[in-house]
Amino acid sequence: MVNIDRSVSPNEIEKQKEYMAKIRALNDAYFEDKGVRRKAFALTLGCQQNEADSERLMGMAIEMGYEKCDSPDDASLIMVNTCAIREHAEKRALSLVGQYKHVKSRNPDLIIVICGCMVVQEHRVKDIKMRYPYVDILFGPSLIYRMPEHIWSRSEGGKRIFDPDNAEYKVAEGLPVCRESSYRAWVSVMYGCNNFCSYCIVPYVRGRERSRRKEDVIAEFSELVQKGYKDITLLGQNVNSYGKDSGFDYDFADLLEQLDAIEGDYTIHFMTSHPKDATRKLIDVMSSSKHVARHFHLPLQSGSDSVLKAMNRKYDFEKYISTLDYIREKMPDVTLSSDIIVGFPGETEEDFEKTLEALSRARFDMVYSFQYSPRRGTPAAEMEEQISKEVKGERFDRLLKLQDSISLASNQVLVGKTLRVLCDGPSKNNKDVFSGRTDGGKIVFFDGELDDIGQFVDVNIEKGDTFALSGKIIRK
Ligand code: 5AD
Ligand code: SF4
Repeated sequence: MVNIDRSVSPNEIEKQKEYMAKIRALNDAYFEDKGVRRKAFALTLGCQQNEADSERLMGMAIEMGYEKCDSPDDASLIMVNTCAIREHAEKRALSLVGQYKHVKSRNPDLIIVICGCMVVQEHRVKDIKMRYPYVDILFGPSLIYRMPEHIWSRSEGGKRIFDPDNAEYKVAEGLPVCRESSYRAWVSVMYGCNNFCSYCIVPYVRGRERSRRKEDVIAEFSELVQKGYKDITLLGQNVNSYGKDSGFDYDFADLLEQLDAIEGDYTIHFMTSHPKDATRKLIDVMSSSKHVARHFHLPLQSGSDSVLKAMNRKYDFEKYISTLDYIREKMPDVTLSSDIIVGFPGETEEDFEKTLEALSRARFDMVYSFQYSPRRGTPAAEMEEQISKEVKGERFDRLLKLQDSISLASNQVLVGKTLRVLCDGPSKNNKDVFSGRTDGGKIVFFDGELDDIGQFVDVNIEKGDTFALSGKIIRK
């Protein structure tokens, strides 16, 4: 078998590190002069992969001598990491960038960077060139490693930079990372997607699948365990394709098995899996593992076979449900979640009812449901029989109503059980209670203490609501 190396060359990474050092010297001189550090602010929209990318952007910014800040008003570097999955996400990104115009007019030295999935699209590049002249630098998600070079060029008075994508789709290793949490972490195992579901923009903006070398994944993962991280999520648009592009006979189940063997007190999550290649081997590895959470996120998208076909999902409901049944057979206490799109072009009332039936049959603990949003350049956007806003809205409400009752029932059966919960700290809305998440990702409210933050605690569940559980800690 051929070993296909998809890494950005070490020389290129070295070059970027040199730019980081040069910018750091400028920022250190500023600090010497003014007594305060230049600050960097990152705003992230969209998925966990974007959050992971933003941690690398911030890691580079800190390496360049910026200090992390929480408000764009204080920043000398603003990095907006955008999402393109639905229209709503794009509108939000554009409206936020619009607000930074005023920040720039108060601080002309400010550098505004816009990156992520939205800005790879040609029409958005044009948009930003013309309508957002105060944006300095634009680059695509596979080119984040070039940020130092671009910041250097711009701070030296160079032209605005538009670097949407090079279509080479490589993997950049060795970038600094500034993690948001000291106990939850992301580890990307692969990037891109080859599936071309007909509604989805991801393959166009994130490019073809490429896996990280297993040595790199294992090294990053082991370091996190050693540092005491408790919850590590392996990321990829379709983690089940891990390794297929690399020429080795080593797949995602093999990777999971190898990671699970690392000693420590931690849980492994992974997302997202495509049902067409969620193998029995993977499920067997999960069920016999020590650290892999009994949690499976398996996006169904629709319960109607004809809609699934038009979506180019490559499975039918029977195949999907047989996978789900096998997961439950091997892990009876598993938490199952899924994604559903309502209002896909051509979806009839009958198709939609099949989705409702599918939800009743599958009995997911949680469902993330979306109204179909046409994405320019994808086949589904060109399909006739687009569904009206009203019908989408009405189906969406009916779906939520059904799923809420299923989620409520799935939470109520947990009353009286003791669950392991990773404590996140005082709840955002009510500081008197603490919140955390079960291995399955369910939110739990309980009577925590500050010392519990970032630790696993055992909680006896007293109440199950639609979106959360609540209970009391059992102290040993
Ligand atoms: N419209 C609505 N939802 C979408 N998703 C992906 N593309 C679209 C779209 N064009 C949903 C899918 C996917 C999740 C991440 O976002 O359900 O699983
Ligand atoms: Fe989009 Fe389908 Fe790829 Fe997921 S598997 S990123 S839905 S194309």
